[in-house]
Amino acid sequence: MSTPTGRDSAADPGGAALTDPALLADPYTGFGRLRETEPVTLGRNLDGSPLWIVTRHEDVRAVLDDPRFANDPLSVPGIETDKRAELLVRMGLSEEYVAYMADTLLDADPPDHTRLRKLVSRAFTVRRVNALRPRVEQITDDLLDRLPDHAGDDGTVDLIEHFAYPLPITVICEMVGVPEEDRPLWRRWGNDLIQTDSPERMDRALVGTVEHVRAMIAKRRADPGDDLLDALIAVRDEDGDRLTEKELITMVLSLVIAGHETTANLIGNGTLALLTHPDQLALLRRDPEVAPRAVHELMRWCGPVLGSRPRWPTEDVTLGGKLIRQGEPVMAMVVGANRDPRRFEDPDRLDISRTYATRGEQHTGFGHGMHYCLGAALARQEGEVAFTRLFERYPKLSPAVPEGGPEWHPRPGLRRLVRLPLHLGRG
Ligand code: HEM
Repeated sequence: MSTPTGRDSAADPGGAALTDPALLADPYTGFGRLRETEPVTLGRNLDGSPLWIVTRHEDVRAVLDDPRFANDPLSVPGIETDKRAELLVRMGLSEEYVAYMADTLLDADPPDHTRLRKLVSRAFTVRRVNALRPRVEQITDDLLDRLPDHAGDDGTVDLIEHFAYPLPITVICEMVGVPEEDRPLWRRWGNDLIQTDSPERMDRALVGTVEHVRAMIAKRRADPGDDLLDALIAVRDEDGDRLTEKELITMVLSLVIAGHETTANLIGNGTLALLTHPDQLALLRRDPEVAPRAVHELMRWCGPVLGSRPRWPTEDVTLGGKLIRQGEPVMAMVVGANRDPRRFEDPDRLDISRTYATRGEQHTGFGHGMHYCLGAALARQEGEVAFTRLFERYPKLSPAVPEGGPEWHPRPGLRRLVRLPLHLGRG
């Protein structure tokens, strides 16, 4: 597809398609091959439209850190419609609610992003995350205690359904301050909000969550407490600026969407990785102090996010020798960056004792730059607690993966196991 000038033609997309079953079946090999042969390449998005795919660590970080690559397509001169919001409405979501889902922190560019991120960071603090740890441990232990109740006729338990998914959504409920009695509803909404193949369920969950958060805000205004929602309501910057009700609702909704499925799949993918690398599991068992490092390495080696949100160049940019025109979407493939041999020695080897001398050497599993994951500290904490407690509680845990290997969802953005059946191996 390269023209004699070395420029690919966006009018004639060919190349790698994000829907290619081979890429989805083994994204490490597929995107690894692209990284080594055509690190900045014009491929096709899910709907067949052209999309630049970037796979080298250095280029991925450059895209995520360069203000010329906007998150909001409306920041591009000449683009006047928000395709994402349009798409959600076309899918059948209620028009008046779509903005709550489409105008998140991740959709914003400076100065809006700077303002929102500053306010939110004052409420969503590392201190608050650290203080939550005992509750995360308690929630984890409760779920682990109940695992045997979910054993099927063959004696196996699906870790994805009964542990990996319920843990993060329950932790978000705890952090935000959702009352116990409403949590089953939130767990359902949390799942339904990501069901893109069922717009009715997604819409019910969207409307349900928005109205529930609105009611919670009204209650908190009358009778404040001290959880994250209270902190978000109260937060002000030095100029007295604060979050509007719409921004508050969107923020809570995006914590549910951004923090739920991602963390669940860190737990699912990480558990499978450890079970299939007994030497690494033995290291973790021997010394639980390595858990923080192990989580970083699992994020690098089998992290749930495969690629960033599309970025929209606000002007022509040359990257990796390719000219990317203003307004042509770009996806930074975290999965390629995290296995880049230019950055990581022996990148395909899982090694939980790896250390990173500087932040610059780190994996990009939580992104990079101004949109670096807001919940990274929380997700890492949940991962640390989940892996250490799971293997302590069930020392004889073993996978019951069917012949032919584990089953992965064919989803381009996220590495997600359909299920992870395990023998708990008690006694
Ligand atoms: C942003 C990954 C957990 C909230 C991001 C980004 C990545 C990411 C890659 C940047 C995306 C981009 O630049 O296109 C993950 C992974 C997680 C995780 C792998 C779990 C293992 C969480 C949790 C929360 C959260 C637990 C909150 C409860 C957010 C938010 C953003 C974000 C709000 C947007 C930040 C901004 O735009 O400034 N995450 N995340 N994430 N994440 Fe996470």
